[in-house]
This record gives sequence, structure tokens and C-alpha cells, in this order.
Amino acid sequence: MSSLFHPLSIRGVEMRNRLWVSPMCQYSAVDGIPNGWHLVHLAQFASGGAGLVMAEATAISPEGRITPGDVGIWNIEQAEAWADIVDALRSRGAVAGIQLSHAGRKASTKSPLTGGRGSVEAADGGWPTVAPSAIAYEGFAEPVALSLDGIDEIVDDFVDATRRAVAAGFQVIEIHAAHGYLLHQFLSPLSNRRSDEYGGSFENRVRLLVRVTEAVRAAAGPGIAVFVRFSASDAADGGWDVDDTVRAARLAADAGADLVDVSSGGLVAHQHIVPSPGYQVDDAERIRTEAHVLTSAVGMIDEPELAERLVAEGRADAIMSGREWLRDPHYALRAARVLGAPVPTPAQYARAFA
Ligand code: FNR
Repeated sequence: MSSLFHPLSIRGVEMRNRLWVSPMCQYSAVDGIPNGWHLVHLAQFASGGAGLVMAEATAISPEGRITPGDVGIWNIEQAEAWADIVDALRSRGAVAGIQLSHAGRKASTKSPLTGGRGSVEAADGGWPTVAPSAIAYEGFAEPVALSLDGIDEIVDDFVDATRRAVAAGFQVIEIHAAHGYLLHQFLSPLSNRRSDEYGGSFENRVRLLVRVTEAVRAAAGPGIAVFVRFSASDAADGGWDVDDTVRAARLAADAGADLVDVSSGGLVAHQHIVPSPGYQVDDAERIRTEAHVLTSAVGMIDEPELAERLVAEGRADAIMSGREWLRDPHYALRAARVLGAPVPTPAQYARAFA
């Protein structure tokens, strides 16, 4: 009996297996509205057997976009477009999740699709960025430090985005607190030098994340799972580390998070991370054991046998994969065959698996 293909139920949301699609920006939207590219991109993973398909970092406000081509959910037109995508995922047996995001000082950057790097000039459609403190990410424009009112607006934007996402049919809401984006910028002492109640001590630096988690939990209502994605460590001297993440994961769980999704890095350009298969699993396991929360592991988990072993050994409750799904959108169908589990094939494809 495969552990990877054992269903997981969180707040009544039933994932048919534990091999999930990690959020992946496509930089392919106009005005934040997801389109045919996003529909086919995401639906292929649902046809391919994923238990959960997490839509990419989706901006809670126009200023929260990483690039001008990011998707958003700050208005009704965007939410309606998402609803069609949710239908496509659910009708193919996958749970639909959405990662809500504000990029903070890493917003208004050039799209990787055009090979650019650094901030977009105002003349080219760029916008001023905000952050906990006026400290730039290496090579990017300097952000403006958020006022207390500005912080309240961020919380309100997460709430409104959550309501729209739930109305669109998403059953999992992931709060993006990783990869050096706004919430992570508040967590890390390298980017947060505030002297008010949102900066300084650990308790102050986690305050915004806890507020957002409580607010998203309340706005989501019953029957919706709330995840938080952390960078377990900045992998840089003087930065946020795994001990901090264990403490923060406990607080996030107390605030209503159901699962912690464990990634790393992204806060500073001089980070030291050497990726290898399963390179973030040790962090996920520590957080799972010490914070007593459900965790997902991510990072070069490209082989079905590795994914199976990690879940079977209790090192993570679920596996997120990114690039392997891009290489093989039917990753879960293949994994089920390799592991001898029932293949979660769409009925239309059954003849290929008979
Ligand atoms: C990513 N990643 C990512 N992470 C995230 O939290 N939100 C996002 O929107 C994105 N966008 C994104 C785009 C693309 C094209 C890639 C390849 C990656 C990171 C991703 O979710 C995952 O954590 C890493 O890719 C590591 O997992 P894999 O790819 O080794 O399985």
C-alpha cells in the first residue's frame, strides 16, 4: 500500500493523494487576469493525477505583483477567470489551491520570460515598492517603509483576496511567507529594521504573519484549508533560520494554519544554498516533529520512489513538486504505476492504463 497515494483530508478537503503541484509563476497574465495559458497549464496536472494543484503566487493587490505579468485576485474580473480554472481542476479530480502573495521589495521586477533582471522603470509600467524597511534587495529599487495604516491595508487585502478565492471555488489558500517576499521580509532581521511593534524582537517580526494568518483563517470560513509557505532559512549570516521557523510554525498553527509548506531562501542575493534531491526535507521534518504541524516538503523530489519514502518514513505529510510536473504533467499517473498504486487516471484516458 503506497503512502504517497494514501488520501489526506484537511478540514474536510480531501486530497486523493499526497503528490502535489508546487506553485509556479507563469508571468503570462495581462492586468492580473489568468487566461487560456493558465487554464491548460494547471488543468494538465489535474489530468495527470495531482492530489492538489496550487496556482502560482497570485497578487493580493496590483503593487504586490512580482512582475507586470503576474496573476492577481484583487478584483472580480480576475476572480471570475479563476473560477473557470477551478472548475477544470475539480472536474479532473484535483483539489484547487491558490497561493496569495505580496512581493514587497521584490515587486515591480522584469519578467524572466524576456530575460530581464532588476526593477522595471516607471516609464515601462513599473511602480514604487513597499517593504518593512527602506532596504533594497541587491540590485533592485529601494522600497518605501510601510506605515502602520499601510500594514493594516495589507491585512485587508489578504482578507479580500481570500474571500474572492473561496467564492471562486478554491479549497486551499496558501499564504506566501517565503522566498523573500513581503511577509518573509517582515520575518527576517536582514530586511526588517523597524523600531515599532512590527520590528526588532522575534515576536514583533512574526506579528504581521500571525495577523494575516488569523485574518485569512477567519475569512476562509469552514471547509477550507489554510497553508503557510515558509523559507525555513535565509541561508545567510544574521538571517532567519530553522529555529525561528519552528517557533513561527507553531504560532501560525495556533493562528489557524493547517499545514506548513517548507521551502528556503530568496531573501538576499548572497544566500548560500546548494540544491540536491530532497535538499529541504530535513527542515520540513524538523518543523513537523518540533512544531507538531502537518508539513509538505519541496525541492528536487523528482523520483516517485523518493517521494514515497519521505511520506512513508513520516518525514513529510505531502510532497510538492515543481519542475518535475513541467517535465511530465502526468507525474502522478507515472508515479502510481511505478509504486503499484491505483492510477488516478481520467476515465477518458483509461484505455492507456488498462
Ligand atoms: C517557482 N517557485 C515558486 N514558489 C512559490 O512559492 N511561488 C511561485 O509562484 C513560484 N514560482 C515558480 C516558478 C517556476 C517556473 C519555478 C521552476 C519555481 C518555486 C517552486 O514552487 C518550488 O518550490 C521549487 O521549484 C523547488 O521545487 P522543484 O522544482 O525542485 O520540484
